Amino acid sequence: MILENKLNITDQIELAKVEEKISKQKAKQLFDSGDIAKVDVGTFTGLSFIHAYLFEDIYHFAGKIREVNISKGDFRFAPMMYLAPSIKHIDAMPQGNFDEIIEKYVEMNIAHPFREGNGRATRIWLDLILKEELKQVIDWNLVDKEEYLSAMQRSVVKDVEIKVLLKQALTDQIHDRTLFMKGIDVSYFYEGYSEFKTEDL
Ligand SMILES: Nc1ncnc2c1ncn2[C@@H]1O[C@H](COP(=O)(O)OP(=O)(O)OP(=O)(O)O)[C@@H](O)[C@H]1O
Ligand SMILES: [Mg+2]
Repeated sequence: MILENKLNITDQIELAKVEEKISKQKAKQLFDSGDIAKVDVGTFTGLSFIHAYLFEDIYHFAGKIREVNISKGDFRFAPMMYLAPSIKHIDAMPQGNFDEIIEKYVEMNIAHPFREGNGRATRIWLDLILKEELKQVIDWNLVDKEEYLSAMQRSVVKDVEIKVLLKQALTDQIHDRTLFMKGIDVSYFYEGYSEFKTEDL
């Protein structure tokens, strides 16, 4: 079933393409305009800002907490009735070192607060925490897609794999525009979107 969208697109393939193009343009704009500095780092408010920024032209639910239960593979993300309290708890989680930051990221992934676009918005959110707290970001080019997805699946039980995988990909290039744009492309590639290069849009 296709998601209801502001563009009245009814074809799934077309929607995926348009969604990729518009939201990558918005990701680029987020960086180039300096609006990224407005993000409240490490909170749901910040994540919601990022999600709304990327998807507001496409979905009515951009930036808004989902109203349905969702699952992936055999894992069901936080049930609706626990979502609001869960987000409140995650907001309060510490983010003072690498392990704490990844633990917070893992919990936000389990919350999966939005109807769609969680993976892509939450990776930008993660990088902003790492940037502020550690003066480092992830070079997503160094994180293999299959290894990443398998570590994230595993993270709901045990977070050691995702910690090891992301730690080896940390870089000090926190102001590097090309690294950011390429990171967006890799993040979209994880979710099956690889039609457009952010840099070219
Ligand atoms: N089985 C799983 N268990 C836990 N986390 C998962 C699982 N599958 C995927 N993830 C994590 O959730 C992210 C997004 O997955 P999913 O496709 O379900 O969400 P989404 O809302 O459609 O996000 P996007 O639109 O950005 O892909 C993945 O990148 C990964 O980090
Ligand atoms: Mg998706």
